[in-house]
Amino acid sequence: MKIAITGGAGFIGSHVVDAYISAGHEVVILDNFSTGKRENINPDARVVEIDITSADIDLLFKNEKFDILNHHAAQIDVRVSVNDPLFDARLNILGGINLYEASVKYKVKKIIFASSGGTVYGEQEVFPADETHPTRPLSPYGIAKLTNEHYLYYYANNYKIDYVALRYGNVYGPRQNPHGEAGVVAIFANKLLDGTQPIINGDGKQTRDYVYVSDVARANVLVLREQAKGIYNIGTGEEIDVNIIFSMLRETVNPQCEEIHGKAQKGEQKRSCLSYQKIYDELGWKPQMDFTLGLKQTVGFFYQQI
Ligand SMILES: NC(=O)c1ccc[n+]([C@@H]2O[C@H](COP(=O)([O-])OP(=O)(O)OC[C@H]3O[C@@H](n4cnc5c(N)ncnc54)[C@H](O)[C@@H]3O)[C@@H](O)[C@H]2O)c1
Repeated sequence: MKIAITGGAGFIGSHVVDAYISAGHEVVILDNFSTGKRENINPDARVVEIDITSADIDLLFKNEKFDILNHHAAQIDVRVSVNDPLFDARLNILGGINLYEASVKYKVKKIIFASSGGTVYGEQEVFPADETHPTRPLSPYGIAKLTNEHYLYYYANNYKIDYVALRYGNVYGPRQNPHGEAGVVAIFANKLLDGTQPIINGDGKQTRDYVYVSDVARANVLVLREQAKGIYNIGTGEEIDVNIIFSMLRETVNPQCEEIHGKAQKGEQKRSCLSYQKIYDELGWKPQMDFTLGLKQTVGFFYQQI
């Protein structure tokens, strides 16, 4: 199949590109390289440097005749979305609609969207949350993810196009940006390796569902199947807090490092954990990476970058 993947130069997108190419698909990456990197790009993929909000998207889709749109491009920082909701919405909502309009017009068969199980549910009532859990996102970033899901439902209902929204937990692994605000594993691993003191926000008891990037890439391949439709959580069903991540990484990288806590982040969600039962029942996906090994592989990657 011919697949367009937005954000294919980024952390998760580049692993999805690798998985699609291994599975024998033709891949075209659409990226503006705002956070994506040339070195992440698979040599067998074609790259179009373009902004997802651009009017040129229409002509590109007209000329290329993609079978699938996989949409990973986004501004990914929850705090940026809180500080500048307009910027977030222009990219994360209007950018999506721009792509979906072109997809419908030029007969893309399916859209796969990178949603966020860590933010669309808000503070959870049930652990782990399944896809029927109420959605009460607490940030513009989470609202934008949920809004994209609503648009995709609208397009699927009114036009001949299918969609899958993958609600990821906290994705970690090689190529994650260690200099951003998001991605505690990458940030701590990198700091411990270069001898900078990591700071744990607040009491460090906030939990997330950490899912390894190659498991996420595998899910993106599985949902190409025709029977895959609608919303699926992609997580492990396990909660891990920041203190545990810090101590596991410290143990591997620098046992002498002190544990230092800073101010709690205002409005930060307390707990998050996702059930993967639905995608397991329908497509047989389950996480394969053990967390300890996943951390070691991530540290190994950052070690090589120094
Ligand atoms: N990392 C996580 O834990 C996580 C969790 C849930 C959902 N997601 C979603 O997965 C997707 C990928 O996230 P990531 O962690 O790989 O981030 P990333 O920043 O590494 O990747 C984003 C990519 O999109 C590109 N991009 C950004 N704005 C663009 C624009 N206007 N036009 C074209 N390209 C643009 C960037 O250059 C980059 O290559 C995002 O949609 C994110 O919201 C990530």
